[in-house]
Amino acid sequence: MKKKWTALLIAMLALTVFAVGCGSKGDGQAANKIIVGTDASFPPFESLAPDGKPEGFDIDLINAIAKSQNMNIEAKHVGWDPMMAGLENGSVQVGIAGITMNDDRKKQFDFTDPYFTAKQAILLKNSAPDVKTIADLKGKKIGVQSGTTGQAVVEKNFGKGYTGLKGFDDIASAIDDMKNGRIDAVVADNAVIKKFKEQLQLNDVKIVEDKTINQEQYGIAVKKGNKELLNTLNKGLKAVKADGTYDKIYAKYFNK
Ligand code: ARG
Repeated sequence: MKKKWTALLIAMLALTVFAVGCGSKGDGQAANKIIVGTDASFPPFESLAPDGKPEGFDIDLINAIAKSQNMNIEAKHVGWDPMMAGLENGSVQVGIAGITMNDDRKKQFDFTDPYFTAKQAILLKNSAPDVKTIADLKGKKIGVQSGTTGQAVVEKNFGKGYTGLKGFDDIASAIDDMKNGRIDAVVADNAVIKKFKEQLQLNDVKIVEDKTINQEQYGIAVKKGNKELLNTLNKGLKAVKADGTYDKIYAKYFNK
């Protein structure tokens, strides 16, 4: 008799443990949820919606890719450097943030096929002297988002220790400093500069596109060696390009 009761107790305990285990998966903590990290300070690719969630071209794109491949994802604004660190330490599985693929980063991460072509552009006041190429900014104070290809372009032209270079956490802060006259120009991705000019209604500034600056390609990043996830993302990217979804997202953000 006693044995029966003990067995029943053990069975009930086991059932409880099992149920609790299932429950924790049910409330959004599923072990297979893929965290997509971004730096939502880069419109129209990513910015923060009023509800605190990231939105924009990149977010629509990764959601479309996820849908096509049945992936359970959650996009989170983590910031530029934390996104890179998160990809390496595993707290972020996918990075999408208008990330330019270059040799240094390809050593650090694996990237999908390219999904967008960009170029660094120069933003400066209308009243500034004529500037045609980045070389014309010699001696000027130039703002960039730290750790981006904007910084790389300035350093390539004026050297790594260029004293006129000022790094910011995001492009909006650099533009702010330019408005206040603390710096002369901002170098950042062309579509983003254009978007800020519109959004902030900056009528006294101009955008200069320097033909000598190389084109860049954006890719989606995963931890180096994560072949399975990379293949899934590439399959999804191909699918959304083929079925017209990519074009729809493009039109939403880039065609009036
Ligand atoms: N394309 C540039 C780079 O990769 C800038 C990207 C910045 N992205 C962002 N979400 N803040 O360096």
